Amino acid sequence: MTTIAIIGAGSGLGAAVARRFGREGFSVALISRSQERLDALADELRADGVTAEGFAADVRDAASLTTALERADERLGRVEVLQYSPLPAKEYMRPVLETVAADLVGPIEFSVYGAVTAAHQVIPGMRSVGHGSILLINGGSAVRPGPTVTGTSVAFAGLSAYGQLLHDALAPEDIHVGQLIIPFGIGDGEESHSPEALADLIWTMHDERGDFRVYAEPLA
Ligand SMILES: NC(=O)c1ccc[n+]([C@@H]2O[C@H](COP(=O)([O-])OP(=O)(O)OC[C@H]3O[C@@H](n4cnc5c(N)ncnc54)[C@H](OP(=O)(O)O)[C@@H]3O)[C@@H](O)[C@H]2O)c1
Repeated sequence: MTTIAIIGAGSGLGAAVARRFGREGFSVALISRSQERLDALADELRADGVTAEGFAADVRDAASLTTALERADERLGRVEVLQYSPLPAKEYMRPVLETVAADLVGPIEFSVYGAVTAAHQVIPGMRSVGHGSILLINGGSAVRPGPTVTGTSVAFAGLSAYGQLLHDALAPEDIHVGQLIIPFGIGDGEESHSPEALADLIWTMHDERGDFRVYAEPLA
């Protein structure tokens, strides 16, 4: 069976994307740090008819991330879609003048090293079948740095550069690398800001394989 691995699978966007791809016949590998929360989410998805399983890992711990992706591949089938969407910690978001070099370690491990580790784990399988999608999900600070969210702004810039390079390198092999920019709070009450509406957009990114960067809404 074809599998989507959702790295950063919580009750918001992660769950909605799991349901959206599940409807299309994908198995879903749910990855985040708490096995207990993943098991509960997998139970809910299975009750709705989606094949799903949780594999605990911390994106800042490369060994745990590669092991989770390996186990997902073995148990559910080849990972042909990877979504990288862990929710950044509040501590990564400090004003620029209060941010020292040590404050950037966490955000860079989280956004850059984690994404590179995950991509390298799944790309060989995608290449062997001749298709795949790697989808990066970010807030607006990935394209417009915010003065009070320095760690994520700096780290997202690195992730954006990596994603664009990966897009250009893998496009000839029909492996689509895309980045969704979400400039608003998910689930803030507007219908188009709901996790379900964003999950539809993420499905379209995978299915239609357009440009590298897609905006859920223009930046204000
Ligand atoms: N929420 C918003 O308003 C908003 C706005 C713009 C963009 N975004 C983007 O949307 C995505 C998140 O969507 P969401 O907010 O609806 O979240 P969600 O899918 O409900 O959950 C994201 C999950 O990420 C996991 N996570 C956090 N740190 C992690 C780590 N170090 N390793 C592994 N997993 C980790 C958390 O689970 P554990 O704590 O159990 O690990 C959390 O449940 C992110 O890409 C974020 O940048 C969100």
